[in-house]
Amino acid sequence: MKPLSSTSWAAQGVAGLLVFPLLPVEASTDNPSLAPAPPMGFNNWARFECDLNETLFTETAQAMRKRGLLDVGYDRLTLDDCWMLHDRADDGSLEWDTDKFPHGIPWLAEYMKNEGFHLGIYQDSGNLTCGGYTGSYGHEAQDAELFASWGIDYLKLDGCNVWAEEGRSLREEYRVRYMQWHNVLSALPNPLIFSNSAPAYFEGEAADWAVVMDWVPESGELARHSADVIVYSSNGSAWDSIMYNYDMHARLVRYQQPGYYNDPDFLIPDHPSLSQNEKRSQFALWASIGAPLILSAYVPDLSDEEIAFLSNKALIAVNQDPLGQQSALVSRDGTFDVLSRSLENGDRLLTVLNRGADAATTTVTLARLGLTSQSGCKYEARDLVTDDISTMDSAIQIQLDSHVAKVYRIALPESCTKTTPTGMVFNTPSGLCLTASTDSITFEKCSALDTQVWHVTATGDGTKLTLSPLSDTSVCLAADGVSLAKCRGTASTWDHYISGHLRSSSGNCLTQTKDKASIEECVIDSVGQIFGLPSGVHLAKGDLN
Ligand SMILES: *[C@@H]1O[C@H](CO)[C@@H](O)[C@H](O)[C@H]1NC(C)=O
Ligand SMILES: *[C@@H]1O[C@H](CO)[C@@H](O)[C@H](O)[C@H]1NC(C)=O
Ligand SMILES: *[C@@H]1O[C@H](CO)[C@@H](O)[C@H](O)[C@H]1NC(C)=O
Repeated sequence: MKPLSSTSWAAQGVAGLLVFPLLPVEASTDNPSLAPAPPMGFNNWARFECDLNETLFTETAQAMRKRGLLDVGYDRLTLDDCWMLHDRADDGSLEWDTDKFPHGIPWLAEYMKNEGFHLGIYQDSGNLTCGGYTGSYGHEAQDAELFASWGIDYLKLDGCNVWAEEGRSLREEYRVRYMQWHNVLSALPNPLIFSNSAPAYFEGEAADWAVVMDWVPESGELARHSADVIVYSSNGSAWDSIMYNYDMHARLVRYQQPGYYNDPDFLIPDHPSLSQNEKRSQFALWASIGAPLILSAYVPDLSDEEIAFLSNKALIAVNQDPLGQQSALVSRDGTFDVLSRSLENGDRLLTVLNRGADAATTTVTLARLGLTSQSGCKYEARDLVTDDISTMDSAIQIQLDSHVAKVYRIALPESCTKTTPTGMVFNTPSGLCLTASTDSITFEKCSALDTQVWHVTATGDGTKLTLSPLSDTSVCLAADGVSLAKCRGTASTWDHYISGHLRSSSGNCLTQTKDKASIEECVIDSVGQIFGLPSGVHLAKGDLN
């Protein structure tokens, strides 16, 4: 743990500039035109691993076109690891494996273009790829220019076999390499979409993971943030793998924005261990959380039913919504996860997932969705799979079978358009929920009580926040962080930083230690100070210092 004093995180970055270009030429999020919405398409990895070839890609493209997937937006096919020869040519350039790609990769890129698709490719920022082929280390510009000359416009850059240079920590090393790649790709006449894998290498270490995530949105259009989704050949539970990646994703709401997307890895509708409900639920969840929709399946053999749910235009529209929010947890009780977010036209999105082993029923109130329930405010919730509409006077009751997720789009009546970001405030490393106890604040296991659902309201010039529990919206989380008090000015205002810190007007940060809440000096590496908030919350500008 390193307190933020004279050698702050920002100061380290500036010092670093003298040696290597740490700051991007232009952050991906400053100019979201490269990927204004999450990418959609196909990648061979989870389904075929290293068994890729030209035929697989041309067959898949034909099937995607014939079966309507291209028409609804799946337009990128990306080669994963093992497409190349183990060694570089004499001039240092990479070469494709001619057994796998007899016509060559430029031919395949042209083929894809003629069919209405884009071709993407895989490389690694280290000495070797994960599969043991030659990595890009020391050849960054050369490889980028080669890919562009082949007609490729999307790069998935893995992070296997990266070693820190002397004087750098491993997490600094990843930052240097991925920022360098971002700069190389951005400088091309036609920049490539950049899929970053750095955070996946830190997911087991909460403080490092957060510090890496803090720069990731500036350095690419998407990032594989945690484990690979289970591969087809593995006998493990694909549902557990999907839930693991979904849970990691739920911790990263604050990073998602137009131009940058958290990537929980592929849709795997082929996986033999998944039930039909579970396949549908993965798609509904991935759409709701704004994840890239990248199929890793044998598309020619998908059933008509599978093609139909993967082509649901209402869910795809939500996924591609230009506001670019990620659904965030409103509540969680061990059975139901309830999530919400806003859409560009002002509609609210409600997502409910039954994680339990049995069918169960839950009720979601308007207040939990951040909507007002005064008279005259009648909301209509449309089930985006069945198209059924339920009128919501004060709440909606939802019954779901085991492992089923449903997504509702709620239109706002013209006189009732106000929404307040509402939901769980939780320490993302521990998963514990900020809880309003009688006159104190604690951290408890999340149990979906009103004492754990918070209205987060913008105040002042809109940049400061107040936090009030639904159990008593007349009180606010006080700046001392350990009590609830009447909401009054700076004594109850907070700043939320991209690093997850919640800093009060005292200059100190909310801190979780076991079940205790306290307010302590803000420390960038402190796992007790990283919080997830509802989506749509204003983030404080600049660094935490
Ligand atoms: C191409 O790859 C697919 C999937 O692994 C495999 O079934 C097929 O036999 C391969 N075809 C050729 C020509 O290598
Ligand atoms: C990685 O590659 C670089 C450049 O070729 C080389 O200097 C370094 O020794 C390699 N590191 C390892 C651990 O193999
Ligand atoms: C999966 O199970 C099959 C059949 O029991 C077995 O042959 C195979 O080796 C297993 N694969 C893995 C990766 O464990």
